[in-house]
Amino acid sequence: MPTTELVPIITVDGPSGSGKGTICQRLAQQMDWHLLDSGALYRLTALAAHHHGISMEDEESIKVVAAHLDVQFLASHTTEIKIVLEGEEVTDAIRAEKIGSDASVVASMPTVRQALLQRQRDFAATPGLIADGRDMGTVVFPEARLKIYLDASAEERASRRYKQLISKGVSASLEDILSDIKARDERDMNRTISPLKPAPDAVILDTTRMTIEEVLEVVLDEAKHKGLR
Ligand code: DC
Repeated sequence: MPTTELVPIITVDGPSGSGKGTICQRLAQQMDWHLLDSGALYRLTALAAHHHGISMEDEESIKVVAAHLDVQFLASHTTEIKIVLEGEEVTDAIRAEKIGSDASVVASMPTVRQALLQRQRDFAATPGLIADGRDMGTVVFPEARLKIYLDASAEERASRRYKQLISKGVSASLEDILSDIKARDERDMNRTISPLKPAPDAVILDTTRMTIEEVLEVVLDEAKHKGLR
């Protein structure tokens, strides 16, 4: 039996800005489980391709980059996970807007998704895994014990992102963020391979009018019902 069937897994999928990242970090902390931020792997692939001067249209070369990603996720109890790519810390660099939209482009390439599949499954380890992404419940961990799909209106997600940037002192335009979110949704939901969609057995939560605490409470309750806590 593959390891992923022996390890309890909670998948959390949904579009950009639906609150997945924060919810997954909080879940992993509270349950003391491992965390897979699968979006980071697509972002790292886009950044590594830039470092090697590879064009975003060159799927063949990007696939090779994805298959050989030299990355370390350094966990610490006091600070957030540090991400090191080819010896260089890139924790903040992979969060740049440009890398986010390039990540969405590389994520639409079937050979890149295939190259990253096993690497994602390797994160499954006892006592359990919280998997954050777009196709965690549908493709990467179809056997997960609990599948959550978080959604929110594009306007609400853009407003969350805008407030986040402003609070960090980064100047931003709400209009630009909204059009970027819509373009990214379009690519993520309509690509032929592993499009963003809820698994048939997912619990769907519209978080438009929910706080992080409320979402967390619902997910922890679902985990309890499934005997995961
Ligand atoms: O969650 P994020 O914004 O860090 O993800 C970056 C991009 O990667 C996003 O456009 C969608 C894509 N992605 C994906 O296709 N599949 C995943 N499992 C995770 C992210």
